[in-house]
Amino acid sequence: MNYPDLKKARIRTDKEVEYKENPMVSGTKFLEKKYFLRTYGCQMNEHDGEQMASILEHLGMSACDDLEKSDVIVLNTCAIRENAHDKVFGYLGRIKHLKKTRPDVIVAIGGCMSQEEGVVENLKKHHPYVNIVFGTHNIHELGSMLLDAASEKQDIEVYSIEGDVYEHIPYKRASEITAWVNIIYGCDKFCTYCIVPYTRGKERSRHLDEIVSEVEALKNRGYMEVTLLGQNVNAYGHDLKEKVEFSELLEAVAKTGIPRIRFVTSHPWNFTDKMIEVIAKYDNIMPYIHLPLQSGSDRILKLMGRKYTKNEYLDLFHKMKSQIPNVSITTDIIVGFPGETESDFESTLEVVEECKFDGAFTFIFSPREGTPAAKMKDDTPLEEKEERLKRLNERINFYSKESNKRLVGHITPVLVLGESEKDSTKVYGYTDTMKLVNVKAPKNTIGKIIDVKITDAKSFSLDGEINEKIHS
Ligand code: SAH
Ligand code: SF4
Ligand code: F3S
Repeated sequence: MNYPDLKKARIRTDKEVEYKENPMVSGTKFLEKKYFLRTYGCQMNEHDGEQMASILEHLGMSACDDLEKSDVIVLNTCAIRENAHDKVFGYLGRIKHLKKTRPDVIVAIGGCMSQEEGVVENLKKHHPYVNIVFGTHNIHELGSMLLDAASEKQDIEVYSIEGDVYEHIPYKRASEITAWVNIIYGCDKFCTYCIVPYTRGKERSRHLDEIVSEVEALKNRGYMEVTLLGQNVNAYGHDLKEKVEFSELLEAVAKTGIPRIRFVTSHPWNFTDKMIEVIAKYDNIMPYIHLPLQSGSDRILKLMGRKYTKNEYLDLFHKMKSQIPNVSITTDIIVGFPGETESDFESTLEVVEECKFDGAFTFIFSPREGTPAAKMKDDTPLEEKEERLKRLNERINFYSKESNKRLVGHITPVLVLGESEKDSTKVYGYTDTMKLVNVKAPKNTIGKIIDVKITDAKSFSLDGEINEKIHS
């Protein structure tokens, strides 16, 4: 048994990162069994889910969407806000019930919630029927933990460590068209509200040649798009023995010739001119940047530990807009951070009015146990925070629709990902600027980049029709 320890999780030393070969177990114990896997978090968590699916299939299992019919249940959790917790504990209610009639079902909880002390205490006390708790640092141990699970006692193995890098991880990828590729794990920014540096360990980059060969292999298998993943992609390479910058990695990935490259998430603090130059230079690096603002008030940004001011954010934003043709920029904003006044909130609205973002994810501050912001005095009533969120969302949705409307009548390349769920005469895909489009086009366009004439704009999507030319 190993339990999470937030004090340990906070520690950063200059201990060298170990680069290890990913261990894989296979066996026949679970042959013909069914697994149910549910993921709750960010893209990185989704990608971890693809690793978990591969582990489960190496043990002979196949995926099942029906919880009640499954033999192994894996919840891949997220800890970013309290509502992420609530969803998981809600699900556990159903599982508890299921375990009464089918006690042989194995339940495993992984992901960022497992890295939290309070959560593991709660699982131990109130959910003893959960068989396995594993964390973000030992996903590769899920297979061997499952093989041991018959012993019936709860097995909790969570490590609060800085972390290592595992290479050659097998993934059961959810798509055959677009793929996620990790470039840097962890986070050292310690924004005062955020749990991620505690749940994911320190910033540690994969070697450039490993990333490039993964992208090349994906391209050879017919993948059309890769998204480079990191909590902070522009911190890439600073920790490597031979320092490399994110701009150099981007350039190397662009030269593989894979048709589309995206990356998330960028931090406004160390986004260099060279990065902007490289994004502008290569046609296969998509003109789309997710650039979290969090707040437009310098006072709040300082309390958040974001390391930039409102004006620095705006300068970077305008530099991107002027140097990267046709770029679309989206953001994340938190309202109701402890001590946020009406005037702080208005500064955030001012930035929104100036940037006219293509889209944004907006959140009410959620105190995370163990983070500095959870201890800050917070006397704004929830109703007021909700009111601010509503006002903010009105402006965000307005500008999102405006940016969509500007595309109506234009022809734009769209990578088609699949058949539309609502209408079988339509397919859906994304523009280079990451806008969702439902397109009147035949199914043989799936997996291809096609020219689409945009016919209508909604707040969160576009409608269009195929404009004959198929690129590839
Ligand atoms: N690494 C990314 C963010 C990952 S978390 C970055 O630095 O931009 C995604 C978003 O969740 C954050 O951008 C933030 O807006 C939001 N978030 C994180 N912690 C939160 C909290 N405690 N309460 C509310 N929102 C939070
Ligand atoms: Fe969290 Fe800040 Fe790190 Fe993003 S940069 S993951 S918000 S600590
Ligand atoms: Fe959630 Fe962990 Fe991602 S907390 S947002 S799953 S890094």
